[in-house]
Amino acid sequence: MHLSKVRLVDFRNFKELETEFSEGLNVFYGDNAQGKTNLLEAIYFLCNLKPVRSNKEQHLVAFDKTKAYLKGIFTTSSGPVDREILLNIGDRKKVRECDVEKKRLSELYWQIHAVFFSPDDLSLVKGRPSERRRFLDLLITRLRPQYGRYLAEYSRALSQRNRLLKDLKKNRTLLCALEAWDEQLAALGSVILKTRMAFLEKLFPLVKRYYFYFSRDERQIDIKYESTVALPGVSPEAFREAFSSALRKSLPQDVESGFTQVGPHRDDLQFLLGGKDLRYFGSQGEQRTLSLSVKFAERQMFFEVTGVYPILLLDDALSELDVKRRRWLLQGEEISQVFVTTADLSAIPEDVLKKGRIYRIKAGALRWS
Ligand SMILES: Nc1ncnc2c1ncn2[C@@H]1O[C@H](COP(=O)(O)OP(=O)(O)O)[C@@H](O)[C@H]1O
Ligand SMILES: [Mg+2]
Repeated sequence: MHLSKVRLVDFRNFKELETEFSEGLNVFYGDNAQGKTNLLEAIYFLCNLKPVRSNKEQHLVAFDKTKAYLKGIFTTSSGPVDREILLNIGDRKKVRECDVEKKRLSELYWQIHAVFFSPDDLSLVKGRPSERRRFLDLLITRLRPQYGRYLAEYSRALSQRNRLLKDLKKNRTLLCALEAWDEQLAALGSVILKTRMAFLEKLFPLVKRYYFYFSRDERQIDIKYESTVALPGVSPEAFREAFSSALRKSLPQDVESGFTQVGPHRDDLQFLLGGKDLRYFGSQGEQRTLSLSVKFAERQMFFEVTGVYPILLLDDALSELDVKRRRWLLQGEEISQVFVTTADLSAIPEDVLKKGRIYRIKAGALRWS
């Protein structure tokens, strides 16, 4: 699967752009603040239909405009798939695939996926727990659309329960109504937990493997799923019971705060290097390497489930790495399409560069040489 053509109108600093891409390596080259990252972001948005970070979609529309348009033509094993997105400030985005408007994300061609890595973006390691959950949920949803539906239902049940908790403070007789929501939360939440566990069991070893490859650090890297529901030793079948009992236990605090304190919506991931939490004790280099390793694990995982490698987007990622690893990173083009930005072409080994297509980006316009 690769992106063969793109057209952008009023997307960030691109007024209008239309171009083709190589199915291997594509290099976006130019000075700072010209639009290199913006173009990667456009590709990510076309693939994953979400902004790279938890940015607001409106931010993607060019400053003085109210609408933006993106179109991508992907080449897939089942033929060309063309996808259009219309962003309209103050309205929901519209997505069309092969000329049909799609209401649900899950109806879209599911094998189109992009992985974005920027060494400046340490949100996965240093950001709030919600950012790690977002990463996890986005990826699982892509691979198991059913999971997305459970998440949506869970979040509906959760807001109902929270509303009830707030009312409970004034009116104790509502306590009996809580039971129904607890049951729903436990049922949906345990499916979410179970799916996350099964998924992480595959993801974690990959992260460790890549971390070792990129760092050559002999210290043990560990990743833990920090659950607000006591899980250690609990078999997946017993998640529901564990969750119910956690809800019962936290009821007094929940009523006090008007908010459900336990459940997958409060869980987090913890990364440990040599037993120390990387969030607080890791050097910036270690945090970057971890974040890169997680992205590579995501890519590999996607391949293992779908048989298709996602598109790889590398934003200024080369300066950190030695030549051997740079080469390895870019030669990903043998297995998937790669887009890389750089202000310095000499960061790319000459023989690798020769095989790629170079685009010069200047003030929201593009020229290829
Ligand atoms: N919504 C937007 N509309 C117009 N210009 C934007 C928008 N968002 C960012 N920009 C501009 O894009 C430029 C940065 O582009 P970027 O892709 O980050 O550059 P770089 O080439 O350094 O990666 C800045 O000049 C910024 O003002
Ligand atoms: Mg940039």
